[in-house]
Amino acid sequence: MEERRLGPVVGLGTWNTFDSDRGTAREVVGAALEAGTRVLDSSPMYRSAEASLGAALEGRRERAVVATKIWADSAEGGRRQYEAQRRFFGRVEIEQIHNLSAWQDQLRWLEEEREAGRIDSLGVTHYSPSAFDELARALRTGAFQTVQLPLNPLERECERELLPLAAELGVAVIIMRPLGGFGSGLASRGVPADALRELGVESWAQALSKWALSDERVDLVIPATTRPERARENARAGEPPFFDDSQRRLVERLAGT
Ligand SMILES: NC(=O)c1ccc[n+]([C@@H]2O[C@H](COP(=O)([O-])OP(=O)(O)OC[C@H]3O[C@@H](n4cnc5c(N)ncnc54)[C@H](OP(=O)(O)O)[C@@H]3O)[C@@H](O)[C@H]2O)c1
Repeated sequence: MEERRLGPVVGLGTWNTFDSDRGTAREVVGAALEAGTRVLDSSPMYRSAEASLGAALEGRRERAVVATKIWADSAEGGRRQYEAQRRFFGRVEIEQIHNLSAWQDQLRWLEEEREAGRIDSLGVTHYSPSAFDELARALRTGAFQTVQLPLNPLERECERELLPLAAELGVAVIIMRPLGGFGSGLASRGVPADALRELGVESWAQALSKWALSDERVDLVIPATTRPERARENARAGEPPFFDDSQRRLVERLAGT
């Protein structure tokens, strides 16, 4: 398979953060793009997040890479979602099959769209380790260029099989929940200032994103936020230098593992 590395870089998630207030979404997208963020992740599953993201991209679509998803139990339902994604100004760069939903059925028509040049990359996602065996089977078809998985110091199951497999196949790895997930509290944990100095970061949230990006098999983290200043702060976690092994261990200890 052709090698498709994306990173290491920081993108932006939209789950639970872009579905209530379009003004906030536009400000957060503006701050993220100004800070150099390119990949914006969404899904039809995230209520009105795709609509907010589409509106937020008006006038600046060319600066973004849209990574969204198909989440439907039939090819017809998937095609309807794809039609609605014309809101991204006629193009989706990374189209992912959300939670492996009817993935063989979706893959047939998505491959045609990719071959016709309307999609750059196909991806597949799942949040649960109970689905990782099936995710591995999907990757082994060779049909996917990206995979989206959870990874943070408290959720490391993908390290066992999926990260090595993605590296072997040349599949780009997108990390959901890099800050521990929406509402988990991991990102807001108090951490001593001298530990942050030792890590060379401004904040604990940056340490968490950088921890994931410091695994060479990881391409992209997509932290979500409702706050423009945090979109800027998170983007700076994509700047080198990345952590060495002892700095990664320090982050793990600070996270309580
Ligand atoms: N395919 C799937 O099954 C799946 C599942 C889950 C997620 N995802 C994708 O992955 C993205 C990220 O995952 P996630 O949203 O669950 O979790 P996350 O990005 O790990 O955490 C988001 C939480 O962190 C807070 N936060 C963001 N930046 C911060 C900072 N600098 N300092 C302190 N707190 C900060 C946010 O609150 P504030 O708004 O207050 O900043 C929000 O509550 C999602 O948005 C979605 O695009 C995909």
